[in-house]
Amino acid sequence: EKGAFKHFMLKEIFEQPEVMKRALEGRISQGHLLEQAWGVGASAYFDQVKQVQIVACGTSYHAGMIARYWIESIVGIPCNVEVASEFRYRDVVLPQNTLLITLSQSGETADTLAALREVKQRVLASLAICNVPGSSLVRESDLALMTNAGPEIGVASTKAFTSQLVALLMTTLILARRTGLKPEQEAQIVEALIGLPTLIQSLLSLNDSIAKMAEAFAEKHHALFLGRGTLYPVAMEGALKLKEISYIHAEAYPAGELKHGPLALVDKDMPVVAVAPNNDMLDKLKSNLQEVRARGGELFVFTGCEQSIRDEEGVTTLTLPAVHPLLEPLAYTLPLQLLSYHVAVLKGTDVDQPRNLAKSVTVE
Ligand code: F6R
Repeated sequence: EKGAFKHFMLKEIFEQPEVMKRALEGRISQGHLLEQAWGVGASAYFDQVKQVQIVACGTSYHAGMIARYWIESIVGIPCNVEVASEFRYRDVVLPQNTLLITLSQSGETADTLAALREVKQRVLASLAICNVPGSSLVRESDLALMTNAGPEIGVASTKAFTSQLVALLMTTLILARRTGLKPEQEAQIVEALIGLPTLIQSLLSLNDSIAKMAEAFAEKHHALFLGRGTLYPVAMEGALKLKEISYIHAEAYPAGELKHGPLALVDKDMPVVAVAPNNDMLDKLKSNLQEVRARGGELFVFTGCEQSIRDEEGVTTLTLPAVHPLLEPLAYTLPLQLLSYHVAVLKGTDVDQPRNLAKSVTVE
């Protein structure tokens, strides 16, 4: 039931502190991850992994793209990510000892399931990260990690996505144990994970400011989302949410690609959303943003505290609390979920049941 909330989507966004707690429950003991949670025989498989292949669709694919940054930087082994509808029909080369990770909230997505069946015999092991116990994907995979987000009614995924990110970050740490992550480093990241419910709770208090920001989008037909590093897939997810429920055409670009084409689109009618935490990419991103301003584009920037980007004519900023760099994709997803929600409400669309879309895509 929706309770006090006007839509399931809003309720599910606000459930995320609790969802973060559940995603960690039973997986942590005394500051360390419990490998048994990944399934019987998981440890023996993980010992042999030499590369990771992630396959998923839609929002789940965006979670996979974020995980690639984590796996290559923390585990230090190659990681590929592909949408299932392409992967399954391609002549894919899978090096020895590949761990296949399929990501799906429903566990019934036709293309993802077909991709698993297609390569199952050619991989070291298959791991399903999934929100539905007993789903086809879970039953047919060697290993499974449940995201425990609880049922999601809104067609546009919110809490299922953030719970996938937690599962993927934990999986990254488990693999990184094999490639030199020290117990004290693991403990430090686990501590940050334990702080997630509190962090997400504090982000929800931005709701009113974001509702106000949404007014600038309701009359627009296009929007551009920019990010770098793990925030690039976050920008993609932000753009997908806006498309799905407000029917505004939105595209995401890695900010460095701006001048290679999309800058031609920027004018006063094209709002540009940037996800820009205070990381080492901020200076680069700032110069991309100046290019937008120079063309009269209106900027909406989600940034960290002690920000060096300030409100000025045509620039609206929203400051997020400081977060552990690994948690940035989780933290910056929240405001983008709220932004698309409020734009949709202003436009009067059917937020929970957007036109032409189904919650579970069981046909190709
Ligand atoms: C968008 C959304 C979809 C799904 C996609 C895959 O908000 O929810 O893009 O992510 O249809 O579904 P699952 O994750 O069930 O495999």
